Amino acid sequence: MVVLRAADRATRSLEFHTDTRSPKWLELSANPQVTVLGFCPQARLQLRLQGTVERHGPGSESAEAAWEKLPNRTRMTYTGGPPGDECAFETMGELPEPRDEAEGKARFGVLSFRARTLDWFQLRQQDNRRALFSYDEIGALSNSRWVNP
Ligand SMILES: Cc1cc2nc3c(=O)[nH]c(=O)nc-3n(C[C@H](O)[C@H](O)[C@H](O)COP(=O)(O)O)c2cc1C
Repeated sequence: MVVLRAADRATRSLEFHTDTRSPKWLELSANPQVTVLGFCPQARLQLRLQGTVERHGPGSESAEAAWEKLPNRTRMTYTGGPPGDECAFETMGELPEPRDEAEGKARFGVLSFRARTLDWFQLRQQDNRRALFSYDEIGALSNSRWVNP
């Protein structure tokens, strides 16, 4: 589960943020082919996007620009121990250790995803709808067709 940070309709790109110490950062280096799943309860839409991810690590232009826009409380989520490591919660009522947000910046990474296909599915009471879309390397629509749900 990741938070969608930005979307660019023209290039069919999505942006996510992550801690570069998380396992997925390394996994995406070995295999940048990913599937992004999304669901909108209001529109009753299920989206399955396939494409590739580019990693922009600490010090990169993308990571620097994204970091600048983050509120302090979000920056602080990148401080502390590596994601997934066992931790002991601080005693209730005690103030947490003060942490430096620069510590977080050195671990902050941006994932840029570019979709090549979209499997679009809309749940309706009756007459569910599904369509497949393909995009070329610059994000232009190259194919679309309705398929049976
Ligand atoms: C509501 C919610 C939002 C999350 N948002 C992010 C996010 O934006 N980026 C991220 O790396 N992990 C996010 N996580 C944590 C991931 O879902 C995941 O558990 C964690 O990153 C470990 O992934 P990995 O071990 O595959 O690297 C979120 C978790 C929840 C429950």
